[in-house]
Amino acid sequence: MYRNVILLMSISKSRINRSKLRKNSVTQRQIPKNSYLCKVNAIIPMVTIDSIRKPVLADLAAFDEFVRGNFNAEGELLQEMLVHVLSSRGKGIRPVLTMLSAAINSPHEQIDGDGRRCSKRTYLAAMLVEMIHTSSLIHDDVLDSSDTRRGRPSVNAMWQSNNAVILGDYILARTLSIGMASAQYDLVSHLGAAIATLCEGEVLQNQHAERLDTTREDYLSIIHRKTASLLGLSASLGAMSVGADRRAVERMRRFGEALGMAFQIQDDILDYRRTADTGKPSINDLREGKITLPLIEILERCDEAERSRIMELVRRCRDDQSAVDAVQAEVDARGGERLAAVTMRCYLERGMHYLSEYAESDCLSALLDLCAYVTERNR
Ligand code: FPP
Ligand code: MG
Repeated sequence: MYRNVILLMSISKSRINRSKLRKNSVTQRQIPKNSYLCKVNAIIPMVTIDSIRKPVLADLAAFDEFVRGNFNAEGELLQEMLVHVLSSRGKGIRPVLTMLSAAINSPHEQIDGDGRRCSKRTYLAAMLVEMIHTSSLIHDDVLDSSDTRRGRPSVNAMWQSNNAVILGDYILARTLSIGMASAQYDLVSHLGAAIATLCEGEVLQNQHAERLDTTREDYLSIIHRKTASLLGLSASLGAMSVGADRRAVERMRRFGEALGMAFQIQDDILDYRRTADTGKPSINDLREGKITLPLIEILERCDEAERSRIMELVRRCRDDQSAVDAVQAEVDARGGERLAAVTMRCYLERGMHYLSEYAESDCLSALLDLCAYVTERNR
């Protein structure tokens, strides 16, 4: 509650006094002076995913049923793999975002006797995005040869990569066919481009990982494609599902994208924290040749000799644990995580500006908590 008072104060301050805005060097957007986000972690208790889900809790339960009802496979193995995937869907940030976006953009607030505020059309929108995301992670674990996902064995670890690839394809195909069968073409028409963007991000990432030449610009472009675009779609489809006008849909897309950029940067910061309970192995990115923001931040501040020395270590990271440790120590000592967190907060500030148009409500509050959660989460 206290958190949201401060968040809302910050937003309304920026709404009232435009002269107090300055341009941010990272985002090139205007953000309020004396931004609260720098101080927020120090004074406010942790926000939990439960407080974010609260306004749409009944909808999320109905959504789970909706997904399970739609995703049934012919064939024992396929069904077994599907059950495994559907029972470990993770935090469900995307469906929550779709539902909260639908709720704050809905022309009339309607809550039924079971506490549900979203329609089947919103559930469909949430399912389309969530299942594309699920499919992409199954493929990603094959590409990264990752044995775990969300603290459980990955599909490829349990059933081999060949079956995992087919399962990912199957989920994608089912998602598109369910979408088409629903005839909600305004929602479905965005899916092809979203999938293509994910693939572009993945290929760009591979290309730079191979050459070990990821710059800040490359990094931002990769994470925009592989993560932010889908969060943008989650939020915009939520608004679209309740018939919001084009401006509102666009505003929510931008909000979701900014949130997604921050979300991925935090993911990449967490990768550097060995002790973090991330549900996946730490320092994985370096072993995969992925140069992410904490390292980019320090490389940008090194002189030529230091840079060559660190890059030599980075080159050895694929199969030399001592090189991984040494790069992590460099990033630690030079404050790479802290510097990356500054950029992350800039994206959150940007995202929160898009929410300043909305009146105070439990759903707005939950979306603001979602912004805070991105900085605070440790998994
Ligand atoms: C996880 O990133 C991966 C993604 C967000 C996107 C993966 C996209 C593809 C594999 C393209 C194919 C897409 C479809 C829909 C079939 P990460 O590896 O940084 O995160 P992680 O640590 O959670 O694995
Ligand atoms: Mg991965």
